[in-house]
Amino acid sequence: MKRIVIFASGSGSNAEKIIQYFQSTKTAVVTQVLSNNEHAKVLKKCKTLNTSGLYFEKADFFTSDVVLNLLKKEADYIVLAGFLLKIPSKIIEAFPNKIINIHPALLPKFGGKGMYGMHVHRAVKEQKETESGITIHFVNENYDEGSIIFQKKTSISTDDTPEIIAKKVLKLEHLYFPKVIEQVILENHG
Ligand code: GAR
Repeated sequence: MKRIVIFASGSGSNAEKIIQYFQSTKTAVVTQVLSNNEHAKVLKKCKTLNTSGLYFEKADFFTSDVVLNLLKKEADYIVLAGFLLKIPSKIIEAFPNKIINIHPALLPKFGGKGMYGMHVHRAVKEQKETESGITIHFVNENYDEGSIIFQKKTSISTDDTPEIIAKKVLKLEHLYFPKVIEQVILENHG
């Protein structure tokens, strides 16, 4: 059984769906949720989901090898579910094609630095897009530029607010993210 470590900075609704999904399939198990935000709701959710949730300091991520060493012990795959820090290259090098991110838009549009959460949905609205969606991709050195694994679209009507767009997109994330992670693991022969 493969081990997944999730990184999350915020509410963790995706983390929750992924944990629950893998509690009922044998492909993988979420061993750990790591957050750079000690007040993140995701850490509270971990308690009710019987999953270990840990806060780490930036220095343990960027300067020392504390987080890297923990990942080497605990992870076969790393999943970014609403994680806002850039992954240091030493971690990317240690886990080639094993780090999966979800982005709440159709990359390459609306990606890059500063494009996260509601910022993305507001930009989509401002550009009068008629569709948005989700992109699940491998993580490389540049924000939102790794190879794309999966995309799914949703249509946007002219009266959709950024909040409504966010809800439509999040629904797709919850529906597809766990399954796509499982697919990646299975395609790598478990
Ligand atoms: C999700 O919509 C995810 O796609 C987005 O943050 C949200 C986290 O929600 N990630 C990014 O914008 C990364 N650039 P959650 O904490 O409820 O899972």
